[in-house]
Amino acid sequence: VTSRSLQEILLLHGPNLNRLGARDEVHYGQVTLAELVERVRGWAEEAGLGVRAVQSNHEGELIDALQDAAAWARGAIVNAGALTHTSYALHDALLDFGRPAVEVHLSRISEREPWRRVSVLRPACGASFEGEGPEGYRKAVSWLAAEIIERDG
Ligand code: DQA
Repeated sequence: VTSRSLQEILLLHGPNLNRLGARDEVHYGQVTLAELVERVRGWAEEAGLGVRAVQSNHEGELIDALQDAAAWARGAIVNAGALTHTSYALHDALLDFGRPAVEVHLSRISEREPWRRVSVLRPACGASFEGEGPEGYRKAVSWLAAEIIERDG
């Protein structure tokens, strides 16, 4: 068994977010997923947290990632893409994860199409940031860092 001095968090991205930088710049901006992950790593590092990043276009792989993370992660930042609006399976996986989770959306989903305004993941998350682009991830990191300190010291 290796002892981890570094506290780690899961950064989980769902379908189509691998296309950031190329897809729908109006809503999602020009930052690529790789750049976004690097920014999150920087913010997390300042807060004393390491980041393991997973992106998948497949719902089951996202659930597997959360189940796996239960063994090592102190918390999770989740942008599940369109699965946000449909996936009760991911909702249940987040509940089962049992650690603080925060939802982030680059775009302001509450002001887009009616079906996008509902997040079925929201009730399983302790906080939610939307419509601020990468800045929302920075806020998610600081929210999560505070939660982790409160819980784990
Ligand atoms: C998104 C919003 C979702 O509705 C959409 O399906 C995405 C990205 C966002 O970051 O704004 O893929 O989660």
